[in-house]
Amino acid sequence: MRYHKIEELLKNNQDWVAQKLALNPNYFNELSSGQKPPFLYIGCSDSRLPLTNFTCTEPGELFVHRNIANQVSLTDINFLAVLEYAISHLQVEHIIVCGHYDCGGIKAALESRTTGIIDNWVNPIRELYLQNQYEIDILPTRGERLNRLAEINVLAQVKNLYQTSIMRQALHNQNAPMVHGWVLDIHTGLIKDLNVATVQWQLYPGCLLEQSPLFSVAHFQPTDEVTGCCCEEAEHVIRNS
Ligand code: CO
Repeated sequence: MRYHKIEELLKNNQDWVAQKLALNPNYFNELSSGQKPPFLYIGCSDSRLPLTNFTCTEPGELFVHRNIANQVSLTDINFLAVLEYAISHLQVEHIIVCGHYDCGGIKAALESRTTGIIDNWVNPIRELYLQNQYEIDILPTRGERLNRLAEINVLAQVKNLYQTSIMRQALHNQNAPMVHGWVLDIHTGLIKDLNVATVQWQLYPGCLLEQSPLFSVAHFQPTDEVTGCCCEEAEHVIRNS
């Protein structure tokens, strides 16, 4: 590690400000005028994962929420506040859920040793493993098993995102951002887009989507016999999609 002293970080900050001002004397005036980031990044707290570096984005371009193992928790008031602000106020166009290979949170979920409160936090990942144990256990190496679980975790968190009241309301208002599931490969530095299909979860709000074009065009079959309220119709479509 290059730096261990706080003074070094402060000196770096002064040098960086000088470089920015040399390129654009108005840089900080413009930065302080407000933010309108197109992206919300939900990632792991791992120190190796500042997405700004990996995507060459500047201050003001990524709104960020990070926690151990990039969890989308429906009971995390911190995350929910970030999500609501990103969608309702910043009106981000894209939400990126980004996991990574060699994730300590994934390992913590599977290893038998206890690490304290992290055990509680990563318990949903332990559940994910149990739900997908057959697919994971047949992989030949420990690394591949952990990395596959990291991918499955991203899929699960994208799904969780669509279960939040905030996203459901955004879908109802037809202003929901596009959602992307990524995994960052620490060994190569490259991002892998998992191309998560989200239409199935977009339909989940049921009654709210009665008027949605997704409901009527993409999935609803005119020959289907559907009776009852719109909730039953939505369930019917989901079961048959
Ligand atoms: Co991690």
